[in-house]
Amino acid sequence: MKKITVDTSAFLFNDLSELPKDDLELMNSAIKTRNKAYAPYSKFSVGAALLLSNGKIITGNNQENAAYPSGMCAERVAIWKAGSDFPNMIVKKIAITAASSITKVSKPVGPCGACRQTLSEYEINQKEPIEIIFMGEVGQIVKTESLLALLPFSFDSSYL
Ligand code: THU
Repeated sequence: MKKITVDTSAFLFNDLSELPKDDLELMNSAIKTRNKAYAPYSKFSVGAALLLSNGKIITGNNQENAAYPSGMCAERVAIWKAGSDFPNMIVKKIAITAASSITKVSKPVGPCGACRQTLSEYEINQKEPIEIIFMGEVGQIVKTESLLALLPFSFDSSYL
């Protein structure tokens, strides 16, 4: 038996003023859509904005439901919206932000496991990495150069 190490890395920015201009623009779209989230149960609003290679920005926010598991995360709302409108799209980047009406979210909020898995399907198919940029409402921002940097030992169609 030997222990193996999976290498991953990310960039850390102290606040929005440190973000490159195009990332800041995308994050501002994510903030705008976050403010339109339907999150009456968790009070935790999430916004996601995707930049496509054709320059279009596609946004999505979380949509909750009285039957809790029937709700959906912002990231999957956004990627499915993009996938259904632009089937052969290339996604360049995704910006994600979360805010709560109960507490100030000041830590970067990464996508949940199910969203990582969903996004990985698109990254693998397009054969180009998707940059992931995420934050809370305020504070530090994390940026990875690919989705798979967030999902070591991932499952994909090669196993089927
Ligand atoms: N949520 C997202 O929209 N994205 C994530 O990656 C994590 C969680 C939403 C789902 C639910 O509406 C609320 O945040 C609390 O879990």
